[in-house]
Amino acid sequence: MKKLSIIAGLILAPLFSAQLVHQPVQSFRTEAYTSKKKAFVDQLIAKMTLDEKIGQLNLPSSGDFTTGQAQSSDIGKKIEQGLVGGLFNIKGVGKIRDVQKVAVEKSRLKIPMIFGMDVIHGYETTFPIPLGLSASWDMDLIQRSAQIAAQEASADGINWTFSPMVDVSREPRWGRVSEGSGEDPYLGSQIAKAMVYGYQGKDLSLKNTILACVKHFALYGAPEGGRDYNTVDMSHIRMFNEYFPPYKAAVDAGVGSVMASFNEVDGIPATGNKWLMDDVLRKQWGFNGFIVTDYTGINEMIQHGMGDLQQVSALAMNAGIDMDMVGEGFLTTLKKSISEGKVTEQQITTAARRILEAKYDLGLFDDPYRYTDEKRSKTEVFNKANREEARNIAAQSMVLLKNDKQILPLKASGTVAVIGPLANNNENMTGTWSVASRTKDAVSIMTGLKETVKGVNFIYAKGSNVFYDAKMEEKATMFGKVSNRDSRSKEALLKEAVETAKKADVVVLAMGETAELSGESSSRANIEIPQAQKDLLAELKKTGKPIVMVLFTGRPLVLNDENKQADAIVNAWFAGSEAGYAIADVLYGKVNPSGKLPMTFPRSVGQVPIYYNAKNTGRPLSDDKSDKCEFEKFRSNYIDECNTPLFPFGYGLSYTSFGYSDVQLSKTQLSGNDQLTASITLTNNGKYDGNEVVQLYIRDMVGSVTRPVKELKGFQKVFLKAGESKKVSFTITPEDLKFYNSELKYDWEAGEFDIMIGTNSHDVKHAKINWNK
Ligand code: BGC
Repeated sequence: MKKLSIIAGLILAPLFSAQLVHQPVQSFRTEAYTSKKKAFVDQLIAKMTLDEKIGQLNLPSSGDFTTGQAQSSDIGKKIEQGLVGGLFNIKGVGKIRDVQKVAVEKSRLKIPMIFGMDVIHGYETTFPIPLGLSASWDMDLIQRSAQIAAQEASADGINWTFSPMVDVSREPRWGRVSEGSGEDPYLGSQIAKAMVYGYQGKDLSLKNTILACVKHFALYGAPEGGRDYNTVDMSHIRMFNEYFPPYKAAVDAGVGSVMASFNEVDGIPATGNKWLMDDVLRKQWGFNGFIVTDYTGINEMIQHGMGDLQQVSALAMNAGIDMDMVGEGFLTTLKKSISEGKVTEQQITTAARRILEAKYDLGLFDDPYRYTDEKRSKTEVFNKANREEARNIAAQSMVLLKNDKQILPLKASGTVAVIGPLANNNENMTGTWSVASRTKDAVSIMTGLKETVKGVNFIYAKGSNVFYDAKMEEKATMFGKVSNRDSRSKEALLKEAVETAKKADVVVLAMGETAELSGESSSRANIEIPQAQKDLLAELKKTGKPIVMVLFTGRPLVLNDENKQADAIVNAWFAGSEAGYAIADVLYGKVNPSGKLPMTFPRSVGQVPIYYNAKNTGRPLSDDKSDKCEFEKFRSNYIDECNTPLFPFGYGLSYTSFGYSDVQLSKTQLSGNDQLTASITLTNNGKYDGNEVVQLYIRDMVGSVTRPVKELKGFQKVFLKAGESKKVSFTITPEDLKFYNSELKYDWEAGEFDIMIGTNSHDVKHAKINWNK
């Protein structure tokens, strides 16, 4: 126990932190480099025909995988004609080399293509889904996961990833929360930075770095009703304070490209929204990379009701979009729009220039085959070292939600019944958006336990299918993530499970969602665990055996029943290639869990949206009543539900217990550019060494606009040996107090502030200060 948690917390970090870059890639470029690049691109553009410039803006999908509605046609011929700027959804270094060959040997100007892919949480070595990675609150680990993903993808021909996805979301019904960092703009911003630095490193032309693409700009995480692709409508003040920060953080971290979102913003689809792309992204934030649409994003503006393909393509160009993913709107309409004076050739030249500059930065003009080294592909992808790191990162992402009577960690003896539709399943371990993943080689819980824990007799029963309804199960298990549906009756499955449980000292119950029950186009109106599995838990409960539930999920679920019935709950998310080993490490205490929820877990879907950084309202329910779930007439509460969630943002237990002292402040009266130090003494009161994520929240008590009841402003992951104490300090400056006011001016306001430090967003210690201008 002690040994491995130290490995996780202390020894591993310095191993790679030396190589982690904490500056934008642009900051490493010299002026000489930039002027050489400009001269190169200038001379190239001077040779290009209008058709060839438009060709650079065209990004077809190779058809290896399809998610959208349209398919590009005649790609080979178009590449020869110089009508393709890049290609995505093509996997395999050999294939990529062959296609690149067509571009650089057969097209007139021999311009190499870029090759994109959704490398979202790892490549073949797969890390936890992004929501799980976020739960580690460990920026070095997250950055390292992106670095390994870049290394593997680039070894296999890919030089551009459609990641990080940084859409803030308070919508657990929306399946794509699995792909993001959860509900908080501050945590999301830190993660956005870490991911961009991880992918891009300090030099994009290095063979093991790739171009990042932050997405989906903007507000994609706030669809009405949680239904994917649905309408978004939000005030500017909310956009700027609560939803924009992670996109901006990615831009500040030097992200090379941005993907427009499918949804509308202020009544205009993002893909055609000039205010969003030009005013906010380019002018206010200074973004100077290129902007790509999402899959057929231009064409979809027809359905949005913005005009025909001719009109919507011009709209996108005028909004500032540079590259058209799949739909070929640019390719087929822009010339006519120029002749009609609706767009100018200059705009097209500018867009082509941005794409060519990215190719230059990637080193493709020096060597178009830079990323197609078969040797690297054989040795650097899914190798032992990467998988070892994936195992550690996976263990760090797990969140201990409940641990009655310290049932965990388990003792390595006796008989353990491993039960549940996900107990002996490897394909689902990698989670959604793992297109390059080797799902069949992922490690199931059963395998992980058997291979790593000696002295225990592990026995298995499936217990139930994922769903009673076979059709529903089919919808939730796509892209090779099969559930191996059992044809036996539900009674037979339950009977076998109960008999198996009776033979054991403890039950490990693996249940929850399948990989594709969350992710794109997997919105759910009911966010409970499917009934078949709930029934299984209820039956097992009757045996009186202690139940340790290992939860698989890509979103916050409603877990009231499970929280009552299970003795312990470990939220494993979808932990990636090494899931089974990492789960075994946590269950048997090789790793003491330290993950914290990056998103609130509601008590019922009716509470959604529910999030910790809410406004107080004019009729708040008192904290006391809220905690006791007491209703009060004419207060902001529900007659039939508590206000509080089941598990708040930032929540997560440990095998040890941490004590927090009161908050100590360096001063209580501050002015101007003073600095405040707020500290607590953290004590490890338990028997185990462990990491604790100490969280700092601030409340601005009075403002010119209403302010949230608390906002995360800092966190530190602190390792303490059993019995050890440590002072944990945060430095607070006026920068941390800033927000966008009603004129969208970013500034702070003098007054009283509540400084809170604690173990999660609900359980905090308070101290008040005054800060004058
Ligand atoms: C998704 C994007 C993804 C793109 C390309 C779209 O459907 O919304 O996140 O990058 O497909 O695969």
